[in-house]
Amino acid sequence: MRDYIAPILLSFCAFNMANAGQVEVLHYWTSGGEAAALDVLKAQMTADGHEWLDFKVEGGGGGNANAELQDHVLRGDPPTAALIKGLDIQRWARLGFLANLDELAQNQNWANLLPNEVANVMQHNGQYVAVPVNVHRVNWLWANKSILDKLNIVAPKTWSEFDQAAEKIRAAGYQVIAQGDQDWQHATLFETIALSVGGPRFYKDAFVDHIFNTKNNKIMAQVFERYYKVLSYADLSWVDEWPDATANVIKGEAAFQVMGDWAKGEFTNANKQPNQDYFCLPVPETQNMFLFNIDSFAMFNLKKSSSEDQLAQQALARNIMGEPFQKAFNLTKGSIPVRTDMSMASFDFCSQYSMSEFLTASEQQTLLPSIAHGMATTGTVQGYFLERLGELTRTPLEPDRAAKELTKAIRYGQYIIR
Ligand code: GAL
Repeated sequence: MRDYIAPILLSFCAFNMANAGQVEVLHYWTSGGEAAALDVLKAQMTADGHEWLDFKVEGGGGGNANAELQDHVLRGDPPTAALIKGLDIQRWARLGFLANLDELAQNQNWANLLPNEVANVMQHNGQYVAVPVNVHRVNWLWANKSILDKLNIVAPKTWSEFDQAAEKIRAAGYQVIAQGDQDWQHATLFETIALSVGGPRFYKDAFVDHIFNTKNNKIMAQVFERYYKVLSYADLSWVDEWPDATANVIKGEAAFQVMGDWAKGEFTNANKQPNQDYFCLPVPETQNMFLFNIDSFAMFNLKKSSSEDQLAQQALARNIMGEPFQKAFNLTKGSIPVRTDMSMASFDFCSQYSMSEFLTASEQQTLLPSIAHGMATTGTVQGYFLERLGELTRTPLEPDRAAKELTKAIRYGQYIIR
């Protein structure tokens, strides 16, 4: 190190040391793409002089994160921040565990930066209690381009085109659709089919408002019919974890995967380019529709912590909403930024496409919350839905009966008080 730089660095470190705090961050971002994206935040916090304590819980889609969190909070040892989404934020806020972020929100002008759909999820009783990281789109079909090219298949826009493609792919000896055998992955596929087959109105009735009548029950049976048909092209014994299913598509062993655009993080991490190596296609018959999944960090009350740790928590929240983080993180994670004032010029085709679909869907009221990812309903209803759907996937019933069983599970979830 050159002599004249050392004193400057030393005084910089001394300043930072004096303000250095710790942040303990609970998350479940363990795949290659997810971990690379989170590294952006870790690096920013470290550059600010703070210490990052990684509270990593294994399991895609949330896995055991909630149970771990509950355990820590009830022992009086909450993390600084936790990856919590949707209605779960309300639950923690209602119980009084979350910090009020209004001052920061005002300083950073969140009200003018966030779309209403995002701001609403971050607030409890009009106060900000969580910071949004991104917007993921769930209704994507990922496709290996070289398999489609080799078999002369045009990217399917409808289910009948999908079926024709599937037959060709199967006959050529490839796996048609990669799908890990986990309830939340099945729910991810199922909800996109529900949106496609039933349309936005049915989707909202079933998964947000839980309105079931004769018409909706009939539609639910049609959804199951299509769901079972798509599953007939999958081999659930192949993989369990979603990044392994994505890897099958990346390696050219499987042609398709239905997954939110965190899957794009895996393609990016493997140096693959959209439209050269793979396609991001809306799930058939969901063009202009957008099932959203917003990742966010809820900030916990740190009443017993040092003022340095409280400053570090503020820095964490401030960094997350900052433009540099929103850009670098979302480029890596596969999602789009939550800020409406950012240029999408340096983003790839899939992100730009996602943003334009988000804006169209928001205008046309086809922007809907994902039930598989905790945006649409309470954790209790979601839990019963996931569990029953998992059973109906592994042990299929006639579509009519399956529809009745799933509806019953949703209803049951509504009656349970927790
Ligand atoms: C989602 C989460 C994403 C992604 C995915 C797989 O629920 O919102 O950020 O990580 O699970 O773990």
